[in-house]
Amino acid sequence: MARDNHPMPQSYEYDVLIIGSGAAGLTVALNLPPHLRVCVISKAAISSGATLWAQGGIAAVLDNADSVENHIQDTLTAGGGLCHEDAVRFTVEHSKESIDWLIDSGVKFTRQDDGEDYHLTREGGHSHRRIIHAADATGQAVSTTLASQAEARPNIDLKAGRVAVDLITNRKLALPGNRCVGAYILNLEDNHVELYRARFTVIATGGASKAYRYTTNPDGASGDGIAMAWRAGCRVANMEFNQFHPTCLYHPHSKSFLITEAVRGEGGLLKLPDGNRFMDRFDTRAELAPRDIVARAIDHEMKRLGADHLYLDISHKPAEFIRQHFPTIYETCLGFGIDITREPIPVVPAAHYTCGGILSDDRARTDVNQLYVVGEAAFTGLHGANRMASNSLLECLVYGRAAAEDITRRESDIPAVPPVPDWDESQVRDSDEDVIISHNWDELRHFMWDYVGIVRTTKRLQRAKHRVDLLSQEISDFYGNYRVSNDLIELRNLVTVADLIICSALQRKESRGLHYTLDYPGLQNEARDTILVPTNYRTLAP
Ligand code: FAD
Ligand code: SIN
Repeated sequence: MARDNHPMPQSYEYDVLIIGSGAAGLTVALNLPPHLRVCVISKAAISSGATLWAQGGIAAVLDNADSVENHIQDTLTAGGGLCHEDAVRFTVEHSKESIDWLIDSGVKFTRQDDGEDYHLTREGGHSHRRIIHAADATGQAVSTTLASQAEARPNIDLKAGRVAVDLITNRKLALPGNRCVGAYILNLEDNHVELYRARFTVIATGGASKAYRYTTNPDGASGDGIAMAWRAGCRVANMEFNQFHPTCLYHPHSKSFLITEAVRGEGGLLKLPDGNRFMDRFDTRAELAPRDIVARAIDHEMKRLGADHLYLDISHKPAEFIRQHFPTIYETCLGFGIDITREPIPVVPAAHYTCGGILSDDRARTDVNQLYVVGEAAFTGLHGANRMASNSLLECLVYGRAAAEDITRRESDIPAVPPVPDWDESQVRDSDEDVIISHNWDELRHFMWDYVGIVRTTKRLQRAKHRVDLLSQEISDFYGNYRVSNDLIELRNLVTVADLIICSALQRKESRGLHYTLDYPGLQNEARDTILVPTNYRTLAP
C-alpha cells in the first residue's frame, strides 16, 4: 500500500539494466542488438561521471613505430608485477578496434597539423606516443558522442536522476540459484524507490575516489557499484591500490581540477617553490615516471619543505602551442588568475582512480550469475598495483564490448525473471537528523586522507579501521530507520568501500605500486592479489 500523498511504487522490466552512463555503460548499451530492451540509468546527468572529465586521452597501439608488445610491456612494468598478463594482452590486442569503433561512432579526435594522421600524445610510463585524444577534453568528446548515439536508439531508455540502492538477487528473495534479477532504484524526481527487473544487470558505476578528502573525481564517485556487489555476494580485489594523480590544481576556489599528465608528456616540468626541478632525484624517467612514483615524490617534497603545494611549469613552451594543446586547462587556470603560458601552475596530488574492484573475467562476468561489471568498478587484472595513464578508458571500451558480446550470445538461454516484491518502506520515517550524514561523510573522507593516503603505516591503518567500524554501525542503524536519500545511499556505500580499502591495505605486508607503507618498505617475493570474500559468497552456479 502506498503512503498517503504518494503514488504507487513504479516497476519496470527490461532485458538489460545498465547502472551507469559513463564510457563503460554506454559502450555496453550501444553494442547490444536492437531487439533487446535496454535501460541505462545514471544518478546524475547522463554525461556527468569521470568519463566526462577525462583529459589526456586513450592509450592504444596506433603508430607503426609502436607495437602491441611495447604497450603490454609498459603496462606490466607500471603495474608493479601484479597485472594479469592475459588481461593486459586481451585489452591491448583489442585497443585499435575499440578506437576504430569510437571514430565510427563519431568521436572527433585531434589530428596532426597536416590534418591527416591523428595526433598521439605521451604520458607517464608509456615508452611511445600512443595516447589518442580530443585536445585536453577527450572525455567530453567520448561522453557526449556516445550519449547522443544512445539517445537515438529506440531500444535504449536513458534515465538520469536514478540512484541504484541495491541489487536484487535470488538469494535475497530466498529463491534457489545465484542470480541477479535487477535492482531497487531511487527516483530523485519524486524520491520514491522503484523496482527494475532485468534478465541481465550491468554495473558500470565508476570508481570510489570520493572516499578521500581531495579527489579529481566528480561527486558521484562513491563506489556504489562495488559496495552493492559486495553486499550481493561478489568478491572484491586489490582495493588498497587507490591511485593518486600527481597534479591537481591547487587553488582555494577550484574544486578538484585535474592538470593532465599530457602536460608533462609535452615537456611540462615539476618544480619546487624555489624553481628547482626535483624528479630526477627520484627516478631516471623524471617527470615521465609512472604516477605512483611521481605522486610519492611530490608528497615527500611537500612534507620535507612543509609546503602545501608544488608547481608544474610549461611556460617555457611557445604560448600558441600551449593554447592549442591544452585549451581547457589554459582557460580554466586563467579563470583563477593563472596564465600558464607565463607562470607555473600550483599543484597537489589527489585521489584519482580505483585500481581494484569487483572481480570479473574477460567477458565481464562477476561471481553472481547475470551480473556483469565494466569500467572503473571492475577488477579485470589489467592495472595491477598501479594503472598506467589512459589505460582506463580503453578498459571501459574493450570490456564493455566483451560484456555486450557475451550477453548477446547468452540471452536466448536466459529465462524471464521471477516476480519480485516492491521496496518496503513501511517501517521507516523521514530523517530529522541529516547532520549525522554530513558529519560522518566529512569525518570519513578526512581520516581516509590522513591515515590511508599516499604513505601508510600499520598504526594509521588500524586507527582508520577502528573509526570505519564505528561509522559502519552508526550508518547501518540510520539506514534501518530512515527513508533513503542520495546522500545516505552514497555514505553507506562509501563506508563499505573505505572498509574494503583499509582491510586490503592491512593485508598487504609489503610496499608495491600504489600501496606504500613505512612498516613494510620492501617487496614480498611473490606478487599476490588481495581478494576479499564476502560472507555470503558462493562459487558460481552453472
Ligand atoms: P564513470 O564515467 O565514472 O560513470 C559512472 C556512472 O555511474 C555515472 O553515470 C554515474 O552517475 C553512475 N552511477 C554511479 N553510481 C550510481 C548509482 N548508485 N546509481 C545510478 N548510477 C550510478 N582515464 C583515461 O583513460 N584517460 C584519461 O585521460 C583520463 N582522465 C581522467 C581525468 C579525470 C579528471 C578523471 C576523474 C578521470 C580520468 N580518467 C582517465 C579515468 C577515467 O575517466 C575513468 O576511469 C572512466 O571514465 C570510468 O568510466 P566508467 O564508465 O567506469 O565510470
Ligand atoms: C590525465 O590526463 O592525466 C589523466 C589520464 C588518466 O587518468 O588516465
